[in-house]
Amino acid sequence: MNLQNFPRVLRKLMNVLVNLLRSSLGRKLVMGATGAGLFGFVIVHMLGNLQIFAGAETLNQYAILLRTSEELLWGFRLALLGMVALHLYCAITLTIDNRRARPAGYADKQPLGATIASRTMMISGVIVAAFIVFHILHFTTRDIFTDYQSWKTMVHGREGHDVYRMVIHGFSIPWVSVAYIVGVGLLCVHLSHGVQSFFQSLGLVSPGYQSIIRAAGIVAAIIIFVGMALVPVSVLLKWIS
Ligand code: HEM
Repeated sequence: MNLQNFPRVLRKLMNVLVNLLRSSLGRKLVMGATGAGLFGFVIVHMLGNLQIFAGAETLNQYAILLRTSEELLWGFRLALLGMVALHLYCAITLTIDNRRARPAGYADKQPLGATIASRTMMISGVIVAAFIVFHILHFTTRDIFTDYQSWKTMVHGREGHDVYRMVIHGFSIPWVSVAYIVGVGLLCVHLSHGVQSFFQSLGLVSPGYQSIIRAAGIVAAIIIFVGMALVPVSVLLKWIS
């Protein structure tokens, strides 16, 4: 792509997005697409975290590699933030529209067959968002335990933050580990229904496939929960130190 065309392409993309946000079908599509993007991030992040089991050098080398280019890192962070903001905006406006469309007296009633995950999407989403803010203050800005600011390490001649030491320190504190396990647990409850909604929004749920898609959502959520919770649990139980 010719870089001179970049502002024009960006403007066109913004126009498409604004048009999509005007209709409820468009907002459902945006919510599904951003949810899928965030789901992909969670899988990649989980695989990255599991490198802790390969030792301090491997995890720190990976963390240093992610910081190779400031421009790429900030581009990625902005994309992630944009996806979270759009996902939240669509969730809130679609919920308000749904409530308005329901007859008086039925406003708080859920359809028959609604699962706990589907009934608690808004509250689980808000708690997960609060957990992510806590998580960023803990490991990225290092404002919860300010000692982390000076914990540096060298891997293959490159200096970076000692992420391994931060993780071991953080999760050795029981309340921190419990907060992560609860946060990740709620994220997985949210995801289990999100996967199903994603296929529904795309109109891909025929009656025969509904139970398969529901099961796929639950299996994906369990795999992510085990993969994420394994790190705090392993530190608490001193399987890694
Ligand atoms: C037990 C589970 C988790 C562990 C052990 C973990 C670990 C980490 C670590 C160590 C960092 C800092 C990496 C570095 O400085 O190089 C980080 C950053 C981050 N994590 Fe997690 N994480 C977990 C769960 C999650 C979840 C569930 C989410 C979101 C859904 C998440 C989102 C993020 C984000 C957005 C960043 C900031 C990336 C950046 O620097 O811009 N994490 N995580």
